[in-house]
Amino acid sequence: MEWDPETYERDAVAALKGASTSEEVESVSVSYLGRKSELKQALRDVRDRETGMRLNAVREALESALAEKLSKVQAQELERRLSEERVDVTLPAELLGPVKPRRRGSLHPSTQVRRDVEDIFLGLGYEIVDGREVETTRYNFDALAFPDWHPARSRRSSLYVTGDTVMRTETSPAQIHKMEEQRPPIYMLSIGRVYRRDTIDATHFPVFHQFEGLAIDKGISMADLKGTLLYVMRQLYGPEREVRFRTHYFPFTEPSMEPDVSCFQCGGAGCALCKHSGWLEMGGSGMVDPYLYEFVGWDPEEYTGFAFGMGIERTAQLRHSIPGIRPFWENDLRFLRQF
Ligand code: DAH
Repeated sequence: MEWDPETYERDAVAALKGASTSEEVESVSVSYLGRKSELKQALRDVRDRETGMRLNAVREALESALAEKLSKVQAQELERRLSEERVDVTLPAELLGPVKPRRRGSLHPSTQVRRDVEDIFLGLGYEIVDGREVETTRYNFDALAFPDWHPARSRRSSLYVTGDTVMRTETSPAQIHKMEEQRPPIYMLSIGRVYRRDTIDATHFPVFHQFEGLAIDKGISMADLKGTLLYVMRQLYGPEREVRFRTHYFPFTEPSMEPDVSCFQCGGAGCALCKHSGWLEMGGSGMVDPYLYEFVGWDPEEYTGFAFGMGIERTAQLRHSIPGIRPFWENDLRFLRQF
């Protein structure tokens, strides 16, 4: 029987219709257009121009039909894969097979205290500001009225970077930056790392955190300082707490006081935590020394204010009965996982 290109084309189109995967399309292509296909064979044997044109027309028609079908089938396959392989993120994990419970991480105890302290002061309307960890001696000491002979200025006590830059020894320089930036009313809190040249032992570490508060306005008195600290201590250590002041000395406050909070463990009766005194030492505080107002160019008669500074690690130690400061910095998961 004479080979008929029309029949061939019709057969090919029919075969293509039946193909539903790209592999099937590929195999139709091989049988009808491949090197060994009858069409290619016939094209090789062509002797006259007319037959050549007819066969080439069949070839072109088949090629384009194949290409069209292939792209349609590939699009369908992609569509199917996208819908079949979609992950249902709402599916409970145990339906997919046995799951090992994952241990959730937690915030470092210092971070937890830091956030609590920030929340408490934000609630009082304080603004939270960042300080600088590397300070000039001007801000770290001079502006805060540290006398020349003060031991904190010594290279034995503090970590100097150059002759007049030092890793800040306290968060108090943040007070001066704020005062230079803004006129009262000022209600600010600043939290961060401070550095001291201490040898590491149970209670000392060369880096620790402080929180520093400063309130300057017209008519601020020591009663405001005491009321503020009482409120903060009750937030941190429970509603029954009392606060008392012991006189002290800081270069940048006058008068200066160390606040104590009544022991939350024994309620003030005396226990090991408070060394049987009923009171826990909280840090330093006082009324802003007029020297600071003069330093930033204000009239010292115009404003009054108070300031205080306390340790974040000490706060966490008290709240959780953590015996020393080293665990805060050792990254030992057996410690950190308890919080
Ligand atoms: N900066 C002091 C320290 O590190 C703590 C302190 C005391 C901060 C009195 C104050 C303050 O703001 O008024 O020991």
